[in-house]
Amino acid sequence: MEILVTGGTGTLGRHVVPALRETGAGVTVLSRHGDIACDLLGEVPPIEADVVVHLAGGQKGDDVATRNLLAACRGVRHLVHISVIGADTVPLAWLRTKLACEQAIVDSGIPFTILRAAQFHDLTLTMVRGLAKLPVVPVPGLRLQPVDVRDVAARIVELALGQPAGRVADLAGPTVYEMRQLVRDFLSLTGKRRLTVPVRLPGKAGQAYRDGRNLTLDGDRGARTWEEFLADR
Ligand SMILES: NC(=O)c1ccc[n+]([C@@H]2O[C@H](COP(=O)([O-])OP(=O)(O)OC[C@H]3O[C@@H](n4cnc5c(N)ncnc54)[C@H](OP(=O)(O)O)[C@@H]3O)[C@@H](O)[C@H]2O)c1
Repeated sequence: MEILVTGGTGTLGRHVVPALRETGAGVTVLSRHGDIACDLLGEVPPIEADVVVHLAGGQKGDDVATRNLLAACRGVRHLVHISVIGADTVPLAWLRTKLACEQAIVDSGIPFTILRAAQFHDLTLTMVRGLAKLPVVPVPGLRLQPVDVRDVAARIVELALGQPAGRVADLAGPTVYEMRQLVRDFLSLTGKRRLTVPVRLPGKAGQAYRDGRNLTLDGDRGARTWEEFLADR
């Protein structure tokens, strides 16, 4: 089986690619620095793999990138895509873009599987590390359900080896945390002493987060906790 992985050099892709290779599949990475060096925001060469695992994503333009990728697919029999929990419930521009990616895939006619995942532990760490650089740490009033990227990678591999399944159950971490808890854990791990100040997120997106519309209560849960992830650091 020939599998093309877009974004195979990224946080998620770095776990997915070796796991797919271990199954004996032929795996090619497409990214700006991959085996196929290609910017999905520009011209994409014809893609003739059996399975495409679409993990590439950036700050903006993912909808354009996804449409360019789909237009280049030739005879692909299964496209697996990673999306984000809250794509259709939290009114933020980048989430609308993620929803547009999903819709483009649904409309493409290529048999597909879409997995929405929660925020990875890695990104949560980047976020709290950034906040903790400030002398007074603003802590947004929201909850997160971070998931370990290794759990997401294992699920993506399973889906890529299986049949197209449409949109499958969301995958989040095992625990829901208040943001202040995540910040506190990081401060205590690093021995930093900081004043923290609660911040109310404005607008409709803020309300969506307060309502927990970025969480999943009935989806699948990864095994590895935020505490275990931090302990490995
Ligand atoms: N991080 C999270 O918490 C999270 C949660 C749920 C879903 N997701 C989704 O999962 C996907 C992977 O996330 P990640 O954390 O692994 O991201 P990441 O670490 O930022 O990696 C992004 C990958 O996409 C490639 N890429 C970016 N822009 C590209 C472009 N214009 N053309 C071609 N390749 C491009 C990058 O490779 P090059 O730099 O080599 O081009 C890299 O391999 C994204 O779609 C993201 O939205 C992420």
